[in-house]
Amino acid sequence: MTTLPELDIDPFTEDVLADPTDFHKLLRAAGPVVKLQQSEGHDIVGVGRHAVMQAVYENHADFISGRGSGILDLARDEPFRVPGLLNETDPPYHDVVRKVTTEIISPRFLRGLRRDFQAKADALVDWLLDKKEINAHLDMTEAFPLEVIPDAIMGARSHGRENLLKYSVWLFESMGPKTPRARRVLESVDNVQGAVAWVEESSQRENVHPGSIGAKFWEAADQGLLSESEAATMTRTLVGAGMDTTIYSLGMTVNLLLDNPDQYALLHAQPELGKFAFDEALRWGTSVRQVFRTPSRDVEIEGVPVKEEQKIMLVLGAAGRDPQRWGPTADDFDITRDSSGHLSLGRGIHSCVGAPLARMEAEILLGTFARRVKSIERIGESTPYINNTLRGWVDIPMRLHAA
Ligand code: HEM
Repeated sequence: MTTLPELDIDPFTEDVLADPTDFHKLLRAAGPVVKLQQSEGHDIVGVGRHAVMQAVYENHADFISGRGSGILDLARDEPFRVPGLLNETDPPYHDVVRKVTTEIISPRFLRGLRRDFQAKADALVDWLLDKKEINAHLDMTEAFPLEVIPDAIMGARSHGRENLLKYSVWLFESMGPKTPRARRVLESVDNVQGAVAWVEESSQRENVHPGSIGAKFWEAADQGLLSESEAATMTRTLVGAGMDTTIYSLGMTVNLLLDNPDQYALLHAQPELGKFAFDEALRWGTSVRQVFRTPSRDVEIEGVPVKEEQKIMLVLGAAGRDPQRWGPTADDFDITRDSSGHLSLGRGIHSCVGAPLARMEAEILLGTFARRVKSIERIGESTPYINNTLRGWVDIPMRLHAA
C-alpha cells in the first residue's frame, strides 16, 4: 500500500477555474488519487485518470452518491436545497426513480420533439445570418436551449424564463465551496431566491404543460409510482441539470470549431457530423468540471488508501484528455475521432439521463447551422465562464459567412 500523493492546488481558485489545463495535467501525473489543497475548510481528494475514474463511477457500492454530488457531505453539512432524487441517492431508491425517468424521456418522446426543435433551429439560424456578427454564447448556444428545454421539460410559462438562468447560477455555484468569489457572484444575481421560487412554482402540477416531461412525472404520481413531492422535485431537477450544462457544452463546441477552421470546414461539408463534434467537445473540455463520490468504507484505489467519508472529486476534464486513454493526440479537437466512452456524461447507474435530449439539441442546432454557414471567423477573444461546477464561455464573438 502506498500513501496518498499530494498536490498543492486548490481547484476552486479563480485562476484554476479560468483555465484548468495545467491542474488537469498535474493531477493525472501525481497519482491515481491525490490529496488536494483544502478549499474553504473542505478536504478534497481528486481523481483525474480516465481508467481510475471509470472504475470509481462503476463501483456505486463503495463510492456512493447519497452523501452529495457536490462538495457538501450531506451526512454532516447543512444541504443548500432538497438533495437530488437521482444524482444524490443510491440503490435501491435511485433505481426506482431512474426507471420512471428513463421511461418518460423515451426515444419515442424525443422523436415527438424533433419537428419543433428543427423549426426553432431554422428560425434561429435565419436570424443569426441576418445579424452576421454575433456573440455565439448569448445569440446561439444559450438562445436555443432556452427556447426548447423549458417547453420540453415543463411546458414552462413563457413569462419569466430568465429565472432559469439565475437558478442555474445558484445551483451550480452552491455545489462547490463558498469561496469569496462564489459569494460575490451569488450576491450579484438579482433576486436569486425569487428565481428559485419561480422554478419551484413552475414545477407544480397546475403549471406544467400537458405532454411535457414534467406533466409525465405528475401522471406517474397519479399512478402511484412517485409521490407528489417527488414529481415536483424531479421536474425541477431535470430543468436544473439540463439547461446550463447543455448551454455551455454547445458553446464549448462552437468555440472549438472557431479555433479549428479545418474542423468547421469538415462539419460544413458533412453537417451530419454535428453530433460527433458535440461529443468530441465534451471529451475535450466538458462543461461539468466535476462530480463527487464518497467512499462507504475505507477503500484502496490502485493501492492508495482512501478513508470512508473522504469526499472524492472526479475531475472530468482531466480524464477527457488523458493520453493513456486517448493517445498522443488527446489534446487535439478532431470531430472524426471515436470519442465514445468519454466520461463527461458520467458512467454507470448515474450516467446522464438527459444525454439523448442534449445530443438531439446539438445534432439539430449544429447540423442546421453548419449546412447554412460556410465559415466562421473569430472577431475577438472569448471570455471564460467562471463557476464552481460549470465551464465554458460567456462571450464568443464571431462573424458568419453564409453558404
Ligand atoms: C451536455 C449536457 C449535459 C452534461 C455535460 C451532463 C453531465 C452529466 C453528468 C457528468 C452526470 C453524472 C453525475 C454523477 O455521476 O454524479 C449527469 C447526470 C444527470 N444528468 Fe446530465 N448532463 C447534461 C445534460 C442533461 C440534461 C439535458 C438533463 C435533463 C433533461 C440532465 C439530467 C441529468 C440527471 C437527472 C442526472 C442524474 C442521473 C442519475 O443519477 O441517475 N442532464 N449529467
